[in-house]
Amino acid sequence: MGDRNWILLGAPGAGKGTQAQRLIDTYRLPQISTGDMLREAKRAGTALGKQAAGYMDRGALVPDELVIGLIAERLDQPDAQQGFILDGFPRTVPQAEALGQVLAERGRQLTRVVAIEVPEAVLVPRLTGRRSCPKCGAPYHVMFKPPVKEGLCDVDGTALVQRADDTEVTVRARLETYRNQTAPLIAYYRAKGLLREVDGQGELGAVFQRVQEALA
Ligand code: AP5
Repeated sequence: MGDRNWILLGAPGAGKGTQAQRLIDTYRLPQISTGDMLREAKRAGTALGKQAAGYMDRGALVPDELVIGLIAERLDQPDAQQGFILDGFPRTVPQAEALGQVLAERGRQLTRVVAIEVPEAVLVPRLTGRRSCPKCGAPYHVMFKPPVKEGLCDVDGTALVQRADDTEVTVRARLETYRNQTAPLIAYYRAKGLLREVDGQGELGAVFQRVQEALA
């Protein structure tokens, strides 16, 4: 069996994190999300978190050199040696080139890039309605997955929170950033013969089925 060195590509709200979670359960691979890593650094108040915060809060990308260093270190961890699911990285052509180099230096290469496609009109309500439990991390959505008691986690009753960048203004800025800086990666990976595109609309299980077929 070959390595499973995978990238999930897609606009904010396309479902990268949701599908990565299902892939972890099925394939026992680590999800490597630069968004999660940066949010954690922000929460912990590290130097990186402080540098990243301003960019994240206005829907811009954090400078390439900050995230590339983070990824190179993460890919060297023992749990990433048989494969990985990159979610939210790379996001620019220089990041993609740096990733190719980091892998090549380690005698490794990408095996598949799956682009999850969802129209912008669907992405905005997905993101502005997203909520989560700050205590246990359980995900909710005000329309698609509401908790039993409004605003409270079904598991532990904690008040749900909204991600700082999920307000409508910032969501629109993130989508524009995606169009300008990340969408070019679709052509980049298509030219390398690594890309498979899947429709990210519809029931979660149906999308997962398509993602698995694209990875096969
Ligand atoms: P990041 O955390 O990567 O955010 P993002 O790309 O904007 O993606 P999201 O996590 O919002 O969306 P997703 O595609 O994972 O969707 P999800 O599954 O949650 O990045 C945040 C910020 O960090 C960036 O703006 C940037 O500043 C910085 N950053 C991160 N990486 C960087 C990098 N490499 N370089 C520079 N800066 C970087 O789903 C969304 C919602 O939709 C959920 O509510 C979910 O339940 C729902 N949903 C999912 N699938 C479906 C479906 N099929 N039907 C209905 N609802 C669905």
